[in-house]
Amino acid sequence: MTETTLTTETTETTEQELTDKVVASFDAAKDERFRQVMRALVRHAHAFVRETRLTEGEWGAAVEFLTAAGRITTDTRQEFVLLSDVLGISMLTVAVNEPGPDESTESTVLGPFFVQDSPGIELGGDIAGGATGEPAWVEGRVTDADGNPVPGARVEVWEADDDGMYDVQYGDATLAGRAHLFTDAEGRYRFWGLTPTPYPIPDDGPVGRLLDHAGRSPMRAPHLHFMVTAPGFRRLVTHIFVAGDAGLESDSVFGVKQSLIRPFDRHGAGTPTPDSRRLEGPWTSTAFDIVLRKE
Ligand code: BEZ
Ligand code: FE
Repeated sequence: MTETTLTTETTETTEQELTDKVVASFDAAKDERFRQVMRALVRHAHAFVRETRLTEGEWGAAVEFLTAAGRITTDTRQEFVLLSDVLGISMLTVAVNEPGPDESTESTVLGPFFVQDSPGIELGGDIAGGATGEPAWVEGRVTDADGNPVPGARVEVWEADDDGMYDVQYGDATLAGRAHLFTDAEGRYRFWGLTPTPYPIPDDGPVGRLLDHAGRSPMRAPHLHFMVTAPGFRRLVTHIFVAGDAGLESDSVFGVKQSLIRPFDRHGAGTPTPDSRRLEGPWTSTAFDIVLRKE
């Protein structure tokens, strides 16, 4: 054995001993799940440092990055969610928690723009509330896996306007482009939304600089968010995406799933609408049936 090999082996043993010591420092934690997660976190983080032979300067830069993410985070701007999203961690967490595959509707990322207290609308109402964009008629049915209707399910929907902005990004407390409604006795819902358009995730902070450095686009594929809840069923967090859109292949947060892509059929100005609403210009329509999974 040469001297160099010996030195390398000695270094590795010391590194492994350090990892083992830090893992063992969680042995006495009473909460079993906490103990399991922290031990795994230490093992994987240490493996990352060893694999990349991370320099102290690089670790310092990472700490500066996280500090900048903390500084830019407010009640309405969550840079750590964005980081989790662009690293695919949000979608991986969705995947490992999805019991399927089965016939229930697939989930995707929640994103940072969900708001607890959205306005309530009647069936067939309009979620725009002043948000600009082309009207889109959206309808569907909420059922269980056997096709039985789920009446009274709360259907929460939210989306960006045609400038690619969510209401909360304007900072004036106006809620627009979001609402909730409840399914009827047959599990049906319907509402007017806006035809989704592409928009960039907030990219004026550290996560935007990370994407730029990587030569990655911040654009999200056009989508409409849904959160559907009903007693006895698992909460469903999902979107529908616009069929045929060029951005479906390069969604910046890896959120697109084939089963969630829907055609938004185009209708010219003057075409009668399902609810005989009078519209000046063109509009679109789509259908999205939702299958909830029992709890
Ligand atoms: C969104 O769809 O609203 C979103 C998701 C992830 C990051 C940023 C925005
Ligand atoms: Fe979104």
